[in-house]
Amino acid sequence: MSDKKAYLDCDSCEERIELDVLSGTVGPDAVDITQLYGGAGLFTYDPGFLSTASCGSAITYIDGDEGILRYRGYPIEQLAAKSSFLEVSYLLMYGELPNEDQLSTFTNKIMHHTMINEALLRFFEGFHCDAHPMAMMVGVVGSLSAFYHDSIDMQDEAHRELAAYRLLAKMPTIAAAAYKHNVGERVMYPRNNLSYVGNFLQMMFGLPCEDYAVDPLAERAVDLLFILHADHEQNASTSSVRLVGSSGANPFACIAAGVASLWGPAHGGANEAVLKMLEEIGDASQIDKYIDKAKDKDDPFRLMGFGHRVYKNYDPRAKIIREVCLQVLEKLADSNNPLFELAHRLEERALHDEYFLERGLYPNVDYYSGIIYRALGIPESMFTVMFAIARTAGWVSHWMEMLKDPKHRIGRPRQLYVGADQRDYVPMEERT
Ligand code: SDX
Repeated sequence: MSDKKAYLDCDSCEERIELDVLSGTVGPDAVDITQLYGGAGLFTYDPGFLSTASCGSAITYIDGDEGILRYRGYPIEQLAAKSSFLEVSYLLMYGELPNEDQLSTFTNKIMHHTMINEALLRFFEGFHCDAHPMAMMVGVVGSLSAFYHDSIDMQDEAHRELAAYRLLAKMPTIAAAAYKHNVGERVMYPRNNLSYVGNFLQMMFGLPCEDYAVDPLAERAVDLLFILHADHEQNASTSSVRLVGSSGANPFACIAAGVASLWGPAHGGANEAVLKMLEEIGDASQIDKYIDKAKDKDDPFRLMGFGHRVYKNYDPRAKIIREVCLQVLEKLADSNNPLFELAHRLEERALHDEYFLERGLYPNVDYYSGIIYRALGIPESMFTVMFAIARTAGWVSHWMEMLKDPKHRIGRPRQLYVGADQRDYVPMEERT
């Protein structure tokens, strides 16, 4: 809170309205309009929430102009260089970096919730073999609530924590099972003696007829990508989880809503869309044609992986991912990867074009991630699934934070009604 005030002189009101101004730790102040409708009969209007803070949160801070991203105050660059996905998950959930015992206990708990009910495995048999894995994720994650009745009392903190652990632990198992269904292979069961990412890779690429050795390069690259995708403030999917959770819905239904929202090509579905775009462009000779298409208001084509609601500068994650991309490709003796070359040329061309510069359109987290996933043998249809696994850490952290917030209440936005005024029913015989 601060003692700052904002004042609203409004033709719709008889007197000047005084509003409190709230200050956070860092970042823009916020005008508190919670009493605006009750006190002055006014709504605010902000489609897409460009200027609206939906809550107070201590989890992630973003400065879009400076290209800053911090999880619980720690810069993403430091966490990317020094941390691990499970350590970051603990940090997001509990607010502090774990000590050795805490991390070991947390890891052990997560790695002992990796199995899913055998009946749930049979759900995959009901999907067509070419079902999109995100469609399977939405369905199966939501169905977890049919199996875990012992962790859905939202008023019980132990239940909330157990549900969060189950979700973090089971997302890789569900994701890998969806992939195995697509490729017609038998599901690989979790190996709890492996790392979180190592276990995921063996469930994805392991075969029952041979031993599987986790590739340390892939293990480190995926763990790093999971760190970078773990949370991002009040993005569309996290806001979906919060809104669904605000009604007291069970955590599995909330995370299923997050998965569904993330799937959109304007959000987490962009990483898959980037690869499709690069394949459509084909080679550097076509770059100018597609840059023109992206700028043409009459053409629905957009440069996928470019632009962001908050970042009007480089997405700090994109910079890190581009470096990782180069390292992975070099170690895979694929440093002349044509897709990476094309992506880099396209980025260079766009960042010398006034249209992109004046709108602050830079590469975002989705621009290079797909190139790494493909280099590691992960198919395009699984790219957003990878995002969902990682973002589960952020989703459960925001869900827990919201339920612990004494101010939280059911989310119920209002509207500016622009439809018909009152009118009387028209009998059929009088209609034209
Ligand atoms: C993620 O919110 C998050 O934090 C999300 C995320 C996370 O970690 O959770 O960071 C993950 O979703 C990253 C974004 C991935 N999506 C894409 O890469 C899809 C392509 N990008 C665009 O669809 C768009 O940039 C958005 C959706 C990301 C942002 O949309 P906004 O904020 O609503 O911006 P806008 O559509 O109002 O665009 C502003 C202007 C418009 O032109 P004008 O009307 O001003 O002339 O920029 C143009 C847009 O036409 N524009 C683009 C463009 N993105 C915006 N033009 C061409 N190509 C693009 N990619």
